[in-house]
Amino acid sequence: MSEITLQIDGKEVKARDGMTILEAAQSAGIFIPTLCHHEKLEPYGACRICTVEVETRGRTNLVAACLYPVEKNLVVRTRSKKVDKIRKMLLELMLAHAPDAPKLQDLAREYGADKARFEKEPSFCILCGLCVRYCAEVKKKNAIGFIDRGTRREISFISEIAAKECWNCKECFPLCPTEALQAAYVLTGALTSSLPSFEGGSKK
Ligand code: FES
Repeated sequence: MSEITLQIDGKEVKARDGMTILEAAQSAGIFIPTLCHHEKLEPYGACRICTVEVETRGRTNLVAACLYPVEKNLVVRTRSKKVDKIRKMLLELMLAHAPDAPKLQDLAREYGADKARFEKEPSFCILCGLCVRYCAEVKKKNAIGFIDRGTRREISFISEIAAKECWNCKECFPLCPTEALQAAYVLTGALTSSLPSFEGGSKK
């Protein structure tokens, strides 16, 4: 694969053709925040917190770093007024769903996001899809999925599968950026009585 030279935050970075801006930045030790990215999963582009500014052929655009492929002579800015403004707004929207999520609170401090800006809709889920995609793509179990549409969209354990597969796995729990997935599992168990209880082993 051919090598591509681009510029990220004023630094010359060498990347392989086919890499994304995020991968190139990470390989050069440049931090870009992510909430829906995982190196074992296909890029998804849901959260947009990885938005960066790119300049190519005289044009400036805002793009998702986890999706956008590197190009020769691309100029990337990972922090700019526009980038910070977008990240701030995205965080304020996500905080309306998960106001107490530590990861979101840390980012909110960094970008000056106000968690009270939008009316609270505490679903505790920011629809990053990490749990759903990890279960499908890595574990090949599909024990968790999206249900409903639009503003009612949320994740849900499929209790028949979860009862068999999740108890010994739970690899998706630490992936959740709002740390609410574990609670969703317990809730599913409580509502359906078909999952092993979270604490103290299997249900009698
Ligand atoms: Fe790029 Fe979520 S990390 S869109």
